[in-house]
Amino acid sequence: MKQNYKYILAIESSCDDTAVAVLRNTKVLSNVIHNQKIHSQYGGVVTELASRDHLVKILPTIHESLTHANVKLQQINAIAYTLGPGLIGSLLVGSATAKSLSIVLNVPLIEVHHMQAHLLAHFIDGVHSSPPVFPFLGVTLSGGHTQIAIVKSYFDMELIGTTIDDAIGEAFDKCGKILGLSYPAGPQIDNMAKKGNSKAFTFPIPKVNGLDVSYSGIKTAFRYFIEKKTRQNKESITSSLTDICASIQGTLIENVMIKVRMALRKAELDQVVFGGGVSANSELRRRCHASLGKVKCFFLPLEYTTDNAAMIGIAGYYKLQKRDFGNLTTTPKARMAL
Ligand code: KG4
Ligand code: ZN
Repeated sequence: MKQNYKYILAIESSCDDTAVAVLRNTKVLSNVIHNQKIHSQYGGVVTELASRDHLVKILPTIHESLTHANVKLQQINAIAYTLGPGLIGSLLVGSATAKSLSIVLNVPLIEVHHMQAHLLAHFIDGVHSSPPVFPFLGVTLSGGHTQIAIVKSYFDMELIGTTIDDAIGEAFDKCGKILGLSYPAGPQIDNMAKKGNSKAFTFPIPKVNGLDVSYSGIKTAFRYFIEKKTRQNKESITSSLTDICASIQGTLIENVMIKVRMALRKAELDQVVFGGGVSANSELRRRCHASLGKVKCFFLPLEYTTDNAAMIGIAGYYKLQKRDFGNLTTTPKARMAL
């Protein structure tokens, strides 16, 4: 029997990663990511530098991804790209490239919502032996977003909680910057925390109504704590760095876990599905498995947690199935409702 294979070329350029993937239906054939090192010295992403670097990297990354996949450009049946949310200059590079390819190849163009894609990555072939079943609680924790949603189907997600100020990844990065760590600090804090005691220091968990969360107060409390400790004895920061990392990480994770438990109870759901860069965090994974009882927790392999184009490709595949196509006049969106 002849298989109905569709080859999708997916482009992700919403922030500081130039990423291109090739999928055959739900199977990822290649997933190439070029991370922009230039931002590490600035403690955060410099938007102008990010757009310029995307422009330099996008075509070589497409070439590399096709080569890894052993697929020719002429075999591609659809082009999927990130429409938003994200940095507008960065999104424009991916959008213009995707539109040009769709015209030249005369194939459908598919617009993908970056935050939906973070969760849809769980449906990539081989990620789970039994993937999550709708409806489930979707929790997206990244550098720009902290979202809790009821996921009813591939593209029907109801946002029930979000941050009222900083995102959780932003809080990791800002606390890391206070400690003198380079950007992104999240993975470094995670690593150092493994050798530390999370109960060594306590930071206040802000009280926010409902399922929303706040992160800016924790970051400010952390800044005062470090300033005071430095005034008392500068060396004490270095000597207790692992305990400091474990304690602030525990607070940042617990802050969202309180709301995740509340959301699971309120929505009466028994599966929670995590996506986004911070979902790589080992303490988050440990606490979920340890504290959620019968609730089934779904986590992604690390290559699909931080920004990648495979997640754009899988979202593109399900849109292709519905013949939900984009058009050449749509412009990227810095902000987009879930
Ligand atoms: O999803 P992502 O790659 O990009 C955005 O869409 O923002 O997330 C990046 C964020 C950064 O803030 C980074 O510090 C954080 O994810 N991150 C982590 C870990 N790995 C990445 N935070 C805590 N623990 C980690 N292991
Ligand atoms: Zn992201």
